[in-house]
Amino acid sequence: MTSATAFRHAMRHVPTGVTVVTSLKDGEPRGITVNSFASVSLEPPSLLICINREARSYLFISTSRVFCVNVLAGDQRRLAEHFSGKVRDRQFIEIGYKTDATGAPVLNGALAHFDCELAHEYLFGSHSILIGHVVSCSARSGSPLGYFNGGFHDFGIHVD
Ligand SMILES: Cc1cc2nc3c(=O)[nH]c(=O)nc-3n(C[C@H](O)[C@H](O)[C@H](O)COP(=O)(O)O)c2cc1C
Repeated sequence: MTSATAFRHAMRHVPTGVTVVTSLKDGEPRGITVNSFASVSLEPPSLLICINREARSYLFISTSRVFCVNVLAGDQRRLAEHFSGKVRDRQFIEIGYKTDATGAPVLNGALAHFDCELAHEYLFGSHSILIGHVVSCSARSGSPLGYFNGGFHDFGIHVD
């Protein structure tokens, strides 16, 4: 098996988009910056995210069994940093959002959102692979935020 250092080094060379996965528990919203996001299947519409079971957000998602994947736009780097920090409470003060089908926050300005019900969980290592059944989604035109070599970058490419 390869070393954690070699694995981390190689992963720095993998470009990804950046999302904020939101959820809520007892009416309190919570969000976490996540780049382990992929589409799973069209029938049924489904996606996956990998969440560290020690993250506060894990408890929110596993309890409420709903989450929303917000794909960040190139000008939303501040949100990516905010939701990867260790903000303990009242994380959504001064964060603009609406809600869709599940009630999980849909961040203003996101390029796309996928509102999900938790369909299945696979435990592996420190993380859980969470499969979401997409109950509602939408997208707008704009350039996405990317993550590469440990930093955020505006991809500078547009889709309509
Ligand atoms: C670009 C980026 C991508 C990340 N992707 C993930 C991810 O896919 N899964 C995860 O569990 N944490 C991921 N993290 C780390 C979490 O955002 C971070 O640990 C967060 O502060 C945990 O918050 P919580 O404990 O308040 O829920 C990522 C961080 C960054 C900066």
